[in-house]
Amino acid sequence: MSSLTLAGAAQILRPPRDGLSCLRGEDLRGQTTAAGDLTIAEGRIAALACDPRAEVTVDARGCAVVPGFVDCHTHLPFAGWRADEYEQKLTGVPYEEIARGGGGIRASARALAQSGDEEILGQSQAVAAEMLAAGTTTFECKSGYGLSRDGELRALRLAAELDARVPQTTLCTALLAHAVPDGFTADEWMGEVEAMMPEVLELGTVSALDIFVESIAFANAHLELMGELATAAGLALRCHVEQFGGHRSVPVALRAGARSADHLCTLRNEDIAPLAAAPCAAVLLPAAEFLGAEHRAPARALIDAGAIVALATDGNPGTAPVFAMPTVLGLAARLYGLSAAEAFGMATLNGAWTLHLAHDRGSIEVGKRADLLLLDGPIEHVAYRFARDPVAIALIGGEPAYVRDDAAARRLGRVGA
Ligand code: NIG
Ligand code: FE
Repeated sequence: MSSLTLAGAAQILRPPRDGLSCLRGEDLRGQTTAAGDLTIAEGRIAALACDPRAEVTVDARGCAVVPGFVDCHTHLPFAGWRADEYEQKLTGVPYEEIARGGGGIRASARALAQSGDEEILGQSQAVAAEMLAAGTTTFECKSGYGLSRDGELRALRLAAELDARVPQTTLCTALLAHAVPDGFTADEWMGEVEAMMPEVLELGTVSALDIFVESIAFANAHLELMGELATAAGLALRCHVEQFGGHRSVPVALRAGARSADHLCTLRNEDIAPLAAAPCAAVLLPAAEFLGAEHRAPARALIDAGAIVALATDGNPGTAPVFAMPTVLGLAARLYGLSAAEAFGMATLNGAWTLHLAHDRGSIEVGKRADLLLLDGPIEHVAYRFARDPVAIALIGGEPAYVRDDAAARRLGRVGA
């Protein structure tokens, strides 16, 4: 369809000003909700007003209109799950110990290697459908369970195929240093990563490189090297840092020009101000923190210092088998002490900034892509009615990509026609 009006919404969530590429501090707090109408034409937000000539009118009374969630950190595609490890964790076995025993990332690497492409894609598509029903209209994919040159390239090709099969926009990150593959030292594996860069770039689908810095994975020196590879290739640098042990990786990430530093549970106080001043997102992953009983990222201090703080699922079969952004918002609100507007801004425009998509989506502004959600209640209910599904309709590029059964009657056709 070429035009659609959302009529009579109780809330439309708007940034404090148009043209912001991210929401820092006061701007995050300064988002507003007001009753109103919104019209979409040719897949974009055309007006913050009703258009009686629109082909379809949707009854938005009692609803909130918000940007679709931009989940800027997931580990899709992957094979199988690791529920057995979760039970171990519940009885007090630490993640690092499970990993050293051959579980963790290695377990998912074995599952990936033993699974056929269709099996992996089928499972990943089902997860993407769950994500859509929970309001995610854009998400990041990562490799990282390949753990060999061929395995990583296969994972990146599977991510590209997943993109072709799902209605959401996906972006692909090559997490080429996730665990040190058997038979290599970390240094040797980084040499292999460097050698595979031409093949990675040839795929034409990768927009960022990523690395896991931890005692069980890679070191700050490898982060620095990954930064050099990213710069040389013209790709963004992402990094998993300060998740379990404190390794003071943030100063290294900032020097390397990282687009984001993710996890940050053990971030040192003295690293908050430099991170907040940098063009580098602090991507917080409260589901991993909660399910892993990890340390708590200093979210409030980061927000108050003016950092670009984003929220994402970290969806993966180990630390966070969680793909619903409303659940992540609910966790974040409780664990970090966030207002509803803050949580939404972190899960929409700041996620889009992290993925270099903020010019095009992540906030409700005329001209932006109409990736929008109609929630069946006010934004304040998302965290409050914890872990409930609030999405009545998800629009992607102005088209209804998901309509919950009880929301079908909201589509009214041309009013007055
Ligand atoms: O973001 N920290 C490293 N990577 C993932 C976990 C991957 C896994 O356990 O499979 C994370 O938490
Ligand atoms: Fe992760």
